[in-house]
Order: sequence, then C-alpha cells, then structure tokens
Amino acid sequence: MQNNFYITTPIYYPSGEPHMGHAYSSILADVFARFKRIDKHNVYFLTGTDEHGLKIEKSAKENNMKPLDYCNKISKIFNELAIKLNLSNNDFIRTTEQRHHKAVKDLWNKLIKSGDIYLSKYKGWYSISDEAYYNEDEIVKKNNKYFSTFSGSQVEWVEEESFFFKLSSWQDKLLEFYNKNDKFISPISRKNEVINFVKSGLRDLSVSRTSFTWGIKVPENEKHVIYVWLDALTNYISALNYPNIGDKLYKDFWPASLHVIGKDILRFHAIYWPAFLLAANIEPPSKIFSHGWILSGDEKMSKSKGNILKPLEIIDKYGIDELRYYLMKEVSHGSDGNISLKNLESCINSDLANNFGNLCQRVFSFVKNNCNNKVKSSKNLKDADNKLINETNHLVKNLRIMMDNHDLNNYIKSVINISFITNKYINDEEPWKLKKTNIKRMNNVLHIAIEQIAKISVLLNPIIPLATGKVFKILNLKSEIINLQSIESGKILNNEITIGSADILFKKIT
Ligand code: MSP
Repeated sequence: MQNNFYITTPIYYPSGEPHMGHAYSSILADVFARFKRIDKHNVYFLTGTDEHGLKIEKSAKENNMKPLDYCNKISKIFNELAIKLNLSNNDFIRTTEQRHHKAVKDLWNKLIKSGDIYLSKYKGWYSISDEAYYNEDEIVKKNNKYFSTFSGSQVEWVEEESFFFKLSSWQDKLLEFYNKNDKFISPISRKNEVINFVKSGLRDLSVSRTSFTWGIKVPENEKHVIYVWLDALTNYISALNYPNIGDKLYKDFWPASLHVIGKDILRFHAIYWPAFLLAANIEPPSKIFSHGWILSGDEKMSKSKGNILKPLEIIDKYGIDELRYYLMKEVSHGSDGNISLKNLESCINSDLANNFGNLCQRVFSFVKNNCNNKVKSSKNLKDADNKLINETNHLVKNLRIMMDNHDLNNYIKSVINISFITNKYINDEEPWKLKKTNIKRMNNVLHIAIEQIAKISVLLNPIIPLATGKVFKILNLKSEIINLQSIESGKILNNEITIGSADILFKKIT
C-alpha cells in the first residue's frame, strides 16, 4: 500500500516576531500531519524559514546586523516557536543552507536548459513586503503612494535588467493541469480564483533582481540574485535532497501530498510553482490547501496593523493545547476567522474543561475512589451500550472524509459531540447507584466510558496532543493501539484495565 504522505507549511519570513497567523498555518499543517499518522501513513512534515530577498536584507539593516547573522537569530525564534506549538515536523529547512542553494541552482539550470528563462529588462511594480510583482491594473494610488489592490501593501516602481521565466507560455498547460487534477487547489473558491487569473492572461515573470545582493546568485551571472519566490518554493524539494532524485526521501515523498498555505500566497503556489516544475520536468505537488486569514476585529492580523495576538503570550497564559484547539475549531475550512481572548476562554471552558476534561476527570476519579483503579468488563452489552459504541466507531469513516476536505471545524464538533453523549451515557447509567446494586454492570458501564475516553483521545490527538498524551499514559495505551484502525476494529482496550494516576487535564478559566 502506498501510504507516504508529505506535508509542508509555508516557510516563514523571519522578518519580525511570529504572530498568530504564523501559528495558525503551522498548527493546521501539524493537525493534518498527526491525523495521517494516526491513520497509519508514513508522514514527512516540513517547516522552516525563508531567509533571502530584499525584505530580509532591509530588516537586517534596520537591526544593524549582517543578513546572515540576523537570519540566524530570527530563524532560531521560529524554530523555537515550532517547538512551543508542539509541531511534529521531521525537518526544519532554512533557505540559507547549502543543501537548499544546491537545489535552487539545479532547478535554475534546468529552466535555462529547457529554454524557459531569458534575459531582458523589468519595468513595473514591486512590493517588498509581499516580495511580489503586480500588474498595472492591480495598483491604486493613495496620497502620492502606490499600493497593491490585492494585498494592500505599498509597491514601488522598478526598472532593472532581469531574467524572465516564460510564464505566458505555460498558461494553457496550467489550465490543462488544473483540469486534469481536479483536487489540486482547495477550497473550490480559491481554485476558481486561480483559474480565472490564469485565464485572464499570464505575463512572463521576472525571476532575478540586480538592485540588492541578499539571495542565491544566478549561476554564471552573479550580478543577479534569484527571485526570492523561485528560491523559496524550491525548499519543498531541497528538503528531500533534490537534485539527488535517487535519494530515498525524494523517492518516497515527492510529489508532495499537501502544501498548506495562506490565501495571500496562493498565486505563488498554484501558478508559479507548478509552472516551474512542469518546465523542469518535475511532477507538481498533488494538492494545495489555502486557508483563510486570522482576523482581529475583522482585519488581517499583521505587524503593520498593530492588532497582533501574540502566540507565545497566549501559550504561556492558557496552554498550547488550548490554543491549538481554539484556532482549529474557530477558523473553518478556508474561511477567515475572527479570534478574541473572550472566545478563546469560553471555548476552553465549554469544550475542554466542562466537556472532555470533565468526562475524563469524573470517570478516572470514580474508578480511583470506588474500584481501586481497576475495571473489568464482562462484555455483556445492553442496547444503550451498543448504540454509543456504534455511533463512535462509525464516525471514523466520516472523520477521514472531513479531514480530506480540510473541514476541521466539523471534525472537532463531531468528536466533541461523542464526548458529550458519553457524559450523557454516564448520567443515564448512574454507576454511583450501580455500585450499590450491580457491581458487574457498574464495571461494564465504566469500561465502556473509559473505552470512549480512549477513542475520543485518539481522535483528538492530532489537535490536542499534550492532553491526549496524558490520557494515553493514564490508560497505559501502547503506541501501536493509538490509531483509527483500532477504533474501527473495536479493539482498543483489554477487558481488564488498570488506570494510572490522573491530574486535571484542563483548568476552567474563571
Ligand atoms: N515566506 C513566505 C512563504 C514561502 S513558502 C515557499 C511567507 N511567509 S510569511 O511568514 O509571511 O507567512 C507564512 C504563512 O503565514 C503564510 O501561509 C501566510 O498566509 C500565513 N499568515 C500570515 N499572516 C496571516 C494571518 N493573519 N492569518 C492567517 N495566516 C496568515 O508568506
């Protein structure tokens, strides 16, 4: 069975402090990566930093540092963020690494060889903050300054010698590619946006700059540095040891299964990237999922707007699982999501503390206080038991579909609903009364409740790995059991179980 799964986050510009948008992109990709792992895929998950270009050169200058020293410092901050966010990445690539330079130069040479790159002069608009070229019809003038209507960022007029990639000649082939690979861009609204843009006509793309030096030099013409997006996108293959295409990593994991990106960088991933790859005779990735923006008071959260909720501060105050859960639940399926501390707190209380946390707490403490931590099932099931078990086990198939559709919002709602109905099952079955009347039945009810907790924990593990990891430890669940297949087969716990000592999983915010 071919079950390799290669998933990437965007590599981050280390040009300032990480914000919630960065955290969101990373956590989202991590949830998909972890889900595929519990669905028994061989997952390779990549993140990293995008360290070249004018934007970084300017940030370094503003900090009175040499670009590489500056990148070393800030890249480390993003690496630490990955750890704080509890990302399960297999690698952290930096575009200043030699392995990456080698890959970019190789790709460049392939594009020269295929006749897709030529030398000319660029005259047009450029946004440093987006590191993007914009067409005349995408520019608006305000107070004698010029801005991109697409991103809102300021642009400047650039005229310089430049190498060009023959993007225009890839227009029809790209449309054909989208047509053949129906699922290449998700959600569908973004796919339509890309197709309309390509249909409206593609112009050749300037792929080198001469007015600054911080980048990868064009082979055999060192006055030019390679355009930072051609450089950055290549990270996805340089991390797999491209150009060594016989390398196991490359063979196992390219083409990528999923690039997770924000909607602001869709054009680069859905148009430029497959065009570069097709031109170099390399298979494009299978899928791009473009998520929406995290908004704060209806605006994109960004440094320039000053409306940043800082992920590290939130993690210190509320905990990483709490942040992960809230972001994944609140911002759904490619749409924008408005986040606030108030909503974060009520989400922690309603779903984590009062629902899932309470379920674990009440069952574990009952078993500790009344059963000496031991429960034995006689597998004598009643209708209410079967109903609960079947409802849970059957959900898995739908959950896979939800994840494949990147519909995390409904995924979480469905799983947390299982926690809700399990709480209700306990209320209905009243093990505290059974203790006096029917110890055997009490054991069965508790066993089912604990099995439900194990299943819910497996299903929530991609989202809240820390808390569910604690549950696995309490239940002494072996790693080979922690997967969807054991839920489906109904074999997750032994008939006789002993539970370990349990702490409160989620504190209620008062
Ligand atoms: N360096 C490029 C990516 C190169 S990938 C070959 C870049 N970096 S970034 O640091 O500016 O952004 C990284 C990711 O964070 C992007 O996917 C972007 O969409 C996401 N976010 C940045 N701000 C965001 C929000 N406010 N909300 C959600 N995500 C946004 O782009």
